Amino acid sequence: MEILFADMPAIAEEEISEALRFCAEQVERNLPEFTDKFQKAYSEGGFYQPTENRDWTTGFWTGEIWLSYEYRRESDAAAAERLKAAGEVQIDSFLHRIDNKIEVDHHDMGFLYSPSCVAGYKLTGSKKGREAAIKAADQLIARFHPVGAFIQAWGPMDAPENHRLIIDCLLNLPLLYWASEETGDAKYRDIAEKHIHTAIKNVIREDYSTWHTFFFDMETGAPDHGATCQGYRDGSAWARGQAWGIYGSALAYKYTKRAEYIDIFKNVAQYYLAHLPKDMVPFWDLEFTDGDDQPRDSSSASIAACGMLEMAKYMEPADAEIYRKYARQMLKSVYDGYAVKDAKESNGLVLHSTYSNHSPYNTCNHCGVDECNIWGDYFYMEALTRLHKDWELYW
Ligand code: GLY
Repeated sequence: MEILFADMPAIAEEEISEALRFCAEQVERNLPEFTDKFQKAYSEGGFYQPTENRDWTTGFWTGEIWLSYEYRRESDAAAAERLKAAGEVQIDSFLHRIDNKIEVDHHDMGFLYSPSCVAGYKLTGSKKGREAAIKAADQLIARFHPVGAFIQAWGPMDAPENHRLIIDCLLNLPLLYWASEETGDAKYRDIAEKHIHTAIKNVIREDYSTWHTFFFDMETGAPDHGATCQGYRDGSAWARGQAWGIYGSALAYKYTKRAEYIDIFKNVAQYYLAHLPKDMVPFWDLEFTDGDDQPRDSSSASIAACGMLEMAKYMEPADAEIYRKYARQMLKSVYDGYAVKDAKESNGLVLHSTYSNHSPYNTCNHCGVDECNIWGDYFYMEALTRLHKDWELYW
């Protein structure tokens, strides 16, 4: 395996501590405005506005609260209590959301309910968190197509234009494994497993770049074609999609223990690394590199780093060391060049992320370009937490 970026510095222990301290303080500063409300999916001019619990992204803000709680309870019981109280208010909101089926007709139940309700349950024993997350798992499995063996991402289930999965869904599946463990009912895990195998077989191309979305024939379930939504064009590799593939294949291995997923992970990660610019933080699509006048997606680097740190747990020591080093190098770059250092410049954690950048060849709405994105903030904090201690996953 070719070693890339050999001379890039890795984040040091004191930088991890300093970065985590700032993140926790920033989250605490935000609590008065963002306890009954949530941070929006993306900042505007560096500042998040408050929003109701309706988008697919609100669980990341609650996840930041729980990560801050974990950090603060090591040294400041009063701060930890304030964070816990805020996390509980948000769990109430998630229970209300799933009970009333508010904007839950999509596959993002894991993004919503793992970092909020599963986390709250694991950390504090929240019964409401457990109840909400199991209901969310039920909602997610209702989107499974037995013919084709996949969970449909978006929209009504009977429309051919929606008959597809997307690579991001690999992060929604740990909710199902957790639900099987909690309830003793294998149905959640069985569906997760089927989806994982279908997804990995189809969204990863021969050269280990990835499709964002993949369509199936409605009648036969046969794989039909790949297409992008948020990438630059069909056939390019959307930078966040590739990162979902890295973290997603690590989680696929964690839950299925299929040896081939280690190789998939290595190849998808290697493709990613080989298409990074000099500072290891990708442009929004891996088509672009140094010299291109395009926005970055700093969230992609943090997601990839989390995936590498997860996969390193299951690898041979020599390989594990390589991927831990890549993760620390990427985080050093995010910390030095992208992370917020002064609350006056932003109420988020990481700048220069891209949600959806419309191009002549893709189908997404244009929003959250070169801004903080709420999952970018969350995964930056998750990656730092993983380096700070032996962290029990919310996923
Ligand atoms: N899961 C949607 C996105 O990454 O933008």
